[in-house]
Amino acid sequence: MTKNLSLIIPTYNECDNISPLVEQILEAISNYNYEILFVDDASTDGTIEKIEQMGKDYPVRAIVRRDERGLASAVVKGFENATGEILVVMDADLQHPPAIIPQLVQAVEQGADIAVASRYVPGGGCAEWSGLRKLISRGAIFLAWLFLPQARKVKDPMSGFFALKQSVIEKARLEPIGYKILLEVLVMGRYRQVAEVPFQFQLRELGHSKLNLNQQYEYLRHIARLAGRSGEAVRFFKFCLVGASGVLVNYGLYWLLTRFAGFAPISDTSSGILSGNIALTISIETAIITNFILNNFFTFSDRNTGGVGGFVKRLLRFNLICVIGGLIQIAVANLFAVLLGVNDLVSVLIGIVAAFFWNYLLNNYLTWSK
Ligand code: GDD
Ligand code: MN
Repeated sequence: MTKNLSLIIPTYNECDNISPLVEQILEAISNYNYEILFVDDASTDGTIEKIEQMGKDYPVRAIVRRDERGLASAVVKGFENATGEILVVMDADLQHPPAIIPQLVQAVEQGADIAVASRYVPGGGCAEWSGLRKLISRGAIFLAWLFLPQARKVKDPMSGFFALKQSVIEKARLEPIGYKILLEVLVMGRYRQVAEVPFQFQLRELGHSKLNLNQQYEYLRHIARLAGRSGEAVRFFKFCLVGASGVLVNYGLYWLLTRFAGFAPISDTSSGILSGNIALTISIETAIITNFILNNFFTFSDRNTGGVGGFVKRLLRFNLICVIGGLIQIAVANLFAVLLGVNDLVSVLIGIVAAFFWNYLLNNYLTWSK
């Protein structure tokens, strides 16, 4: 028994692409029961009429939105109206080759919850993209990976071409802004297994891209919003709180050791430089350990796995990363103060911020990896 497929295709002024697209899709998926849902945002070039005309001969229909615009939210509208058990999302402009659809569907039939057509796995790519556009694309992916751990499950979380089980999005609250519907699905959907299928992103031959600078800005807003909704922003805030507590421990212990426990202050060189620096080292190491414990049971309590062995392994990693963070702080502060002539207090502050991000990102990735 083949499963029922729903193809969801957002359109805005794609009149000339509709019939070649439908023809190529029919060729690719003739073995399946399917429906094609175009979600159109009130195109003015005859796209809707074209779709309705195709609907006379094929299971093709247009859902028209008149009071909303946006690729990603159009796809959500399609999800709400789809009847298939497997949903396929793709562009209308033939940049997503329909011949790949069977591979995506098969990946889902073989157990994947989501199958992504990917430009960034071996065999995938972009036809004739400029170096700059590639760089922007890579930068956008990197940002998503940094702030949204779920996006790290795929090499190409920006792809707009994918198949998924209906159950992935059935209970998900999808409220995307902008272009990147897959990102919303990866962060808010319910799934275990994700597969990637390589494909070549084709050149657009007919009609025009709707991507503009405003979309790039919307993308940043989308990431920030997803970070907030998925709890990653709260995690970042917790890491900040723990960091602040570490400063208190570091500073307080140094004060106790040098004022009440017989260690000499580092400024007092009459008794050698060793005593004060031992006190400082003890304070720093203690703060690293208290920070570790708080982060382990508070900031990353959901990733606190592996029993005692896991705990010790993470402690060592955290320690190493924080020590390197300290060196980064020193290097950055010197870079600004000595090489660029910036005020020393400002330079140290920049060093602290750099070390902070280093500590957060590296520990998020490596120490409490997901
Ligand atoms: N309903 C609706 N509303 N559809 C839209 C809108 C909109 O506001 N804006 C664009 N679309 C449709 C287009 O008609 C086309 O079918 C598809 O969405 C992609 O739009 P393009 O403007 O061609 O986008 P692109 O080629 O720059 O971007 C694509 O490439 C990315 C990979 O870099 C998109 O497919 C992304 O999803 C993909 O990830
Ligand atoms: Mn396109």
